Amino acid sequence: MSATGPIRLGVLASGRGSNLQALLDAQASGQLRGTVRVVLSDKSEAPALKRAADAGVAASFIDPGSRRARLRPAVEDEMVSALRRHEVEWVVLAGFFRIVGSTLLTAFPDRVLNIHPSLLPSFPGLHAQRQALEYGVQFSGCTVHLVNEDVDGGAILGQSVVPVESADDEDALADRILTREHELLVKTINRIASAGFERRGRQVVWADAT
Ligand code: GRF
Repeated sequence: MSATGPIRLGVLASGRGSNLQALLDAQASGQLRGTVRVVLSDKSEAPALKRAADAGVAASFIDPGSRRARLRPAVEDEMVSALRRHEVEWVVLAGFFRIVGSTLLTAFPDRVLNIHPSLLPSFPGLHAQRQALEYGVQFSGCTVHLVNEDVDGGAILGQSVVPVESADDEDALADRILTREHELLVKTINRIASAGFERRGRQVVWADAT
């Protein structure tokens, strides 16, 4: 896809919402080439919903109707309707702890991105920081990638490397990575808006690549 200019974002978040907050803060300070139009959560009590409301952004709980990780098509349909109502162009999974499927992905082809706290393809899935520590890697980091039907398996849009210190426990490493997640998410969205990319299979070719 080519550059699109400022893009209309819908954010799906299940919890704390610090990545969402990074987007809202960047938007408020004029550093985001996009606008968060709506925030949806599968958890009625998610702090992310409050962060959105505090920023004056539309926020809704969408009842997942089950504890299964994989969302039901009917629930994804409801999300797609809400995203379309708010004229969303790109969907950002920012700490969204459910697996999305073909209903959402077909509605937003190559326009759903996720932030993950490891250098994929290492350590996909839950507890990525713990996996990195247990494996003994000296560098970890974070990845922003396109979402496909494989968990944390889509084409990579951007990565940031974070050193692992010998004294790190899971929380210390997670905190260090999180700071970089916030930067990488904003940077990647801005690059999508300003340059654009073409996906060739798993490879992403940025229009501004030197
Ligand atoms: C982040 O580490 C993100 O990479 C992962 O879940 C965490 C969510 O944090 N997918 P927050 O809700 O954005 O604070």
